Amino acid sequence: MSDNATTKPFLTDVLELRRRAKEKIGQGPVTDNYEGDVEQTIDILQSVLATEIVCVLRYTMHAVAAVGIDSESVKDEFAEHAREEQEHMMSVAERINQLGGTPNFNPEGLSSRSASEYGKGGNLIEMIKENLIAERIAVEHYRELIRYFGEKDPTTRVMLEGILSVEEEHANDMHDLLVAHEGTPFLDK
Ligand SMILES: [Fe+2]
Ligand SMILES: [Fe+2]
Repeated sequence: MSDNATTKPFLTDVLELRRRAKEKIGQGPVTDNYEGDVEQTIDILQSVLATEIVCVLRYTMHAVAAVGIDSESVKDEFAEHAREEQEHMMSVAERINQLGGTPNFNPEGLSSRSASEYGKGGNLIEMIKENLIAERIAVEHYRELIRYFGEKDPTTRVMLEGILSVEEEHANDMHDLLVAHEGTPFLDK
């Protein structure tokens, strides 16, 4: 039996932690006990980044292009959402960078990397509906990813939980606007 067979202590001692931290300094915050697959996490986050960029673009276009009765207050709402989507975009890009990846802001292939669509615009009601659909896609997608990351990568999970709660508010705002402008709920409940 070699020395390696001795029982491993539950907590790694401080000196060993410091040694590993110095040895693998080039890996940034990714340490040996990172339980996720870093490459896969970066890949997933690139698609989340694309989703957020597409949301920034769609809401920005809507904020500028919306016309019609009461459009001013709706434009303000679209503009506010565009700003919040931009915050999400930045958090995700920073996380990709922390994990050692380069955030993909390449416009080429952007819409195929994104979970939600840019949309076609159209009248106010059509814009609101497009945003509501995009938000519902984001909510579903992020809920799934939060379950996936679980304890494997708590930092990424917590970031996505923060984003998810804002997307739920966005979906709710769009639903309220739709009811206010169309008079009937778009969804069953
Ligand atoms: Fe977002
Ligand atoms: Fe959103």
